[in-house]
Amino acid sequence: MAKKWMFSLILSLVAGALFYLFPVSFCFAGEEKMAQDPDEDLPKLFIPRSGPAENFPCSKCHKYRPVNREKRKLVLNHTTIELKHAEKNRWCFDCHDGDKLRLPNGELVEYDKPYLLCGQCHGTIFRDWKAGIHGKTVGRWVGDKVFYVCVSCHDPHKPKFKQIEPEKQPLRPTEIKLIKK
Ligand code: HEC
Ligand code: HEC
Ligand code: HEC
Ligand code: HEC
Repeated sequence: MAKKWMFSLILSLVAGALFYLFPVSFCFAGEEKMAQDPDEDLPKLFIPRSGPAENFPCSKCHKYRPVNREKRKLVLNHTTIELKHAEKNRWCFDCHDGDKLRLPNGELVEYDKPYLLCGQCHGTIFRDWKAGIHGKTVGRWVGDKVFYVCVSCHDPHKPKFKQIEPEKQPLRPTEIKLIKK
């Protein structure tokens, strides 16, 4: 009699454990998948930027200089950098930190991943870029695509393109005069 009682107790314990553990483990599996998602659709191959190399790594000079966070006109160096990118409420340190790029969420990334920086503010363009709608890809149509990064085309400090002067309209045939020598 006691054996039977023990048996049913164990059975109900096992059943109870299964009842609780299954949904919980499914939940965890779901969360893990969600956490991986943001990186899954990122391109794998890139055309490296062709910007000036002489200023890298930044620590080459900056390890000898105390940081000056004051927003000001730079005169000793970086004089070619003109900040025209929501500059009223922004300064260098919003994007730069030591030898890394600083993302709006505070994360630091290498200079070969500028698209993560741009992508945190320009979400829809970032999505289009990953899909190959914005920007440019080379390589294969079916197979490996190689992506130009945002800073291959946009100057991060002054990203807006200048308007192009339209060319003059072509001459009408009646306006063409033969030049006699
Ligand atoms: C060749 C030396 C040199 C290199 C390389 C260099 N800097 Fe500088 N940087 C300077 C000097 C000098 C100043 C001071 C400019 C001034 O005060 O007019 C400066 C100023 C700055 C400032 C203003 C804040 C401060 O502390 O004065 C920032 C931000 C900055 N540099 C970022 C960078 C970044 C980012 C890189 C790398 C991509 C870099 N620098 C590479 C020499 C350098
Ligand atoms: C919107 C973000 C952003 C801001 C704000 C910003 N930078 Fe940059 N900066 C970048 C990115 C991204 C790169 C990398 C470009 C590349 O790889 O070609 C870069 C590159 C640089 C470089 C190395 C290339 C070069 O042009 O010499 C220097 C130096 C630099 N920044 C200094 C500064 C200084 C000084 C300021 C403030 C006046 C500043 N940056 C503000 C994003 C920013
Ligand atoms: C912290 C948020 C932030 C980050 C990071 C950022 N941007 Fe912007 N960007 C803005 C805002 C706000 C504007 C609109 C204000 C302006 O034009 O100055 C803008 C404007 C622009 C424009 C001009 C749009 C137009 O035609 O008016 C371009 C292009 C651009 N960003 C590209 C970039 C690129 C490339 C990067 C990465 C190197 C980047 N942005 C990083 C906030 C950001
Ligand atoms: C192959 C070059 C190229 C690449 C790579 C590129 N862009 Fe652009 N981008 C352009 C051109 C060209 C325009 C249109 C400029 C115009 O209309 O004046 C543009 C426009 C924009 C604008 C303004 C859009 C608007 O609606 O006004 C933003 C913001 C922008 N790009 C951000 C980015 C970001 C972020 C990346 C990287 C994820 C990126 N771009 C990559 C060439 C490029």
